[in-house]
Amino acid sequence: MTTNYTNFENSWGNQTRAESYAKLEFPNTYYLAYRDLPEIISKHVTGNRAIDFGCGTGRSTRFLKKLGFNVTGIDISAEMLANARKFDEGGDYRIVTNGEYSHLGNGQYDLVQSIFTFDNIPGWQIRTEILTGLKDLLKPSGKIVCLDSTPELYTNEWASFTTKDFPENWHARTGDIVRDIMLDVEDRRPVEDIFWTVEDYHKLFSDAGLILEATYTPLGYSDEPFEWKSEFSIAPWMIFVLRRGM
Ligand SMILES: C[S@@+](CC[C@H](N)C(=O)[O-])C[C@H]1O[C@@H](n2cnc3c(N)ncnc32)[C@H](O)[C@@H]1O
Repeated sequence: MTTNYTNFENSWGNQTRAESYAKLEFPNTYYLAYRDLPEIISKHVTGNRAIDFGCGTGRSTRFLKKLGFNVTGIDISAEMLANARKFDEGGDYRIVTNGEYSHLGNGQYDLVQSIFTFDNIPGWQIRTEILTGLKDLLKPSGKIVCLDSTPELYTNEWASFTTKDFPENWHARTGDIVRDIMLDVEDRRPVEDIFWTVEDYHKLFSDAGLILEATYTPLGYSDEPFEWKSEFSIAPWMIFVLRRGM
């Protein structure tokens, strides 16, 4: 197990990145992340109280609001939250520290959504503490919907990302830093993520007392108005649906 993430810095903790990300809606490969979520959420989740963990500039929070959820967006980056509030002045956006969420109300939420957040979180211990804290927020019937990049995202070409300049990604193991360049935003500096295998996600869920209910890996279709590259045959995203263990 590698843990060489000591130099890892949350890519979203600065103003330029936050402003660049704020302009992003659902272009190209991002469309695939969100396309199937309404159906997945309606299949697995009952009730409408939600937390959006790693809400960023609020794209994923506004998405949940449109589905009818009463949402609190939480994030570790003040810069990202400032942008979220600009788009949604009446919205509830709060800064949090790792694993400390009980002030939001343990046992009170039907859904904790986490989109692209664990891609930015280094280390087994922090991830386990965070997931345990998020699990405690759930009602007994509540679910966590956790969407992150597949390991294959970092070694293929996509409508929204290029990875060809980073051959070291091919040798990444769980906990390593991997890089890509986002093609849908003005800021073309490489984005750093934390690589995590599917098997190790499963171990993490079990360590945090969560049960994996379903996994979805959406692919692109030929009748969609996007210039898919790998998306036809390789899934860029994996969506885990989790419930509390006994
Ligand atoms: C790539 S953005 C995704 C934003 C949003 N979910 C979306 O889909 O547009 C990832 C977000 O996770 C946040 N984040 C990273 N580590 C976090 C942590 N430990 N706790 C809370 N938020 C975190 C970052 O600050 C950033 O805003």
